[in-house]
Amino acid sequence: MLKNKKKVEGTAHMSMRDDIKEILLTEEQIQAKVKELAAQISREYEGKNPVFVGVLKGVVIFFADMVRNVDIPCEIDFMSTSSYSGTTSTGRTEIRKDVSVDITGRHVVILEDIFDTGTSLTFTVNHLLNKKPASLKVCTFLDKPERRRPGVTVVPDYVGYTIPNEFVVGYGLDFDEHYRNLPYIGVLKPEMYAK
Ligand code: IMP
Ligand code: MG
Repeated sequence: MLKNKKKVEGTAHMSMRDDIKEILLTEEQIQAKVKELAAQISREYEGKNPVFVGVLKGVVIFFADMVRNVDIPCEIDFMSTSSYSGTTSTGRTEIRKDVSVDITGRHVVILEDIFDTGTSLTFTVNHLLNKKPASLKVCTFLDKPERRRPGVTVVPDYVGYTIPNEFVVGYGLDFDEHYRNLPYIGVLKPEMYAK
């Protein structure tokens, strides 16, 4: 539970800033990187009419910024997965919403907010590969390689920023569904998630 939940819900920006220990990536750094990634992808996918697939919900902000900076014809689609911790320590991932575009024979780029243990992205990649796309690449805005679970073989093809092993919020990333609307990426004060 959020200790200061009332404060978070009741006021805006300034009080959310109080919950942040440190700003890791500013709005300017984020937007500069988005432009770089989108330019690279636009060059590499010219004439390929790619499908960008976003995995909800964390990716929505990055996704909207990316596709607005991509300047080639493309399509967009979304999927949603959920992980159940269940009885095993690794948990299990299930599909809540599948893609609606037929991606067979298409060039697909998965957009992700953060590549952490790799569990959810491995599931998503395998799920989409079963639909036989012409190609499949992964673009993640953040990568936390220190957290990678042993045995994960998926490697992101495009990475925005590699970050240290700290829990971050903002720019779509949440803690307990909050802070997604911060325009920057910050590290939450530990007291915010200590019970
Ligand atoms: P993975 O399956 O462990 O790679 O987890 C990926 C998902 O965990 C992301 O899509 C996020 O929703 C969530 N996640 C991982 N690290 C963070 C973080 O630092 N802040 C917020 N959410 C995170
Ligand atoms: Mg989350």
